[in-house]
Amino acid sequence: MDEAKIFLSERDMPQAWYNINPDLPAPLQPPLHPGTGQPLGPDDLAPIFPMALIAQEMSMDPWIDIPDDVMRVLRLWRPSPLHRAYALEEHLGTPARIYYKNESVSPPGSHKPNTAVAQAYYNREEGVTRIITETGAGQWGSALSFACCQFGIICEVYMVRISYDTKPYRRLLMNTWGAQCYPSPSDRTNSGRAILAEDPDSPGSLGIAISEAVEVAAQADDAKYSLGSVLNHVLLHQTVVGLECKKQFEMVGDYPDIICGNVGGGSNFAGVSFPFVKDKLEGRDIQIIATEPTACPTMTRGLYHYDFGDTAQLTPLLKMFTLGHTFIPPPIHAGGLRYHGAAPQISLLVSQGVMEARALHQKAVFEAAVTFARTEGHLPAPETAHGIRAAIDEALKCKETGEEKCILIGYSGHGHFDLAAYDQYLTGDMVDYELPQEAIDAATEGLAEVE
Ligand SMILES: Cc1ncc(COP(=O)(O)O)c(C=O)c1O
Repeated sequence: MDEAKIFLSERDMPQAWYNINPDLPAPLQPPLHPGTGQPLGPDDLAPIFPMALIAQEMSMDPWIDIPDDVMRVLRLWRPSPLHRAYALEEHLGTPARIYYKNESVSPPGSHKPNTAVAQAYYNREEGVTRIITETGAGQWGSALSFACCQFGIICEVYMVRISYDTKPYRRLLMNTWGAQCYPSPSDRTNSGRAILAEDPDSPGSLGIAISEAVEVAAQADDAKYSLGSVLNHVLLHQTVVGLECKKQFEMVGDYPDIICGNVGGGSNFAGVSFPFVKDKLEGRDIQIIATEPTACPTMTRGLYHYDFGDTAQLTPLLKMFTLGHTFIPPPIHAGGLRYHGAAPQISLLVSQGVMEARALHQKAVFEAAVTFARTEGHLPAPETAHGIRAAIDEALKCKETGEEKCILIGYSGHGHFDLAAYDQYLTGDMVDYELPQEAIDAATEGLAEVE
């Protein structure tokens, strides 16, 4: 029998990140200053990011070397395995070959530390002693806590209130790695106090938590801000995933016809797909499916427009698919997919038709998650299960047509801290959300004038 797990040697780990900017089919529109509406220069970002990351954000170099100290930490779990999902294939009775690239093997359990480690490293190199960030359900906060711990940096996390209250275990993981975690909105910042004055019981949102973290970092001399998705340098650091994957496919003489994954801000999907997008732009035929929840349909129903990344309008304006920076999505379980925007690089590729976007209902997503757990054994995060749903749907199409397609899933993380969501699905209490058009119109109405 062929091998079910394809392992790379540590010696074959990618030594450089792949920067898609020079290969994009159209130039990215520049980020704009939140106050003036003019294109941003490096100095505008200097109060919140280290210069090395600002340079990466704007770089047109196709390859950027991975520093040794970053490699040393990545080696704690990388290279990650590429699995062949034989049991799932057999269960579906499909002629398709299904693979998944397993990023759940990292210490915090997701792809997020691929960039957290790089960001902590560059901050330390520039003498930063404190990094401030936000987190939704806690995946990013725990990844940055782990990374800061590796480089001796203090980490402070503003965690969306509803998750802070209902999901204590990720918070405890952050505390174990030595980080401070505050519920957001908090009374520690002007942005948080403004929200609490209007609604003392606000459940918070990612947009509000970003405002708090940026505010703290911008006002402190010893601190910088860190973002876990959306920006070019974050997506760049994730490309180790797809680069490893390509080598693993070479080892077994296969290559994906279809790539399925989930998009919250876009970082894990960029990571697994961009090295293959390069091949697609050079003429290779690959279907690239970016999934999202119907409850937060950024790419399928949002506008491709400049917008702020946060509620308080402190971040730069980015040209991206957006539901509007004041949009607060319904409380679905895929917390990491409840963001109003999507990365500019992903948005551009969707708008150009290089990637296709697909929205999925959460009950169908959990059905796929449970099927996966009962066949492959691994319990996916609710975010991850979106890509699995799309892959199963494509594999079932192959069953009808008899096509023997090769399908790759970006397996972004495990769901061990999401069992309450599984409980709700298993007991039949889960509900689907379809946003009425008026809700989307209302949220996008106030978008900045600039196109
Ligand atoms: C396991 C997992 N997958 C996917 C995501 C979505 O984020 P992104 O689109 O940046 O990868 C998250 C975000 O928290 C996550 O925790």
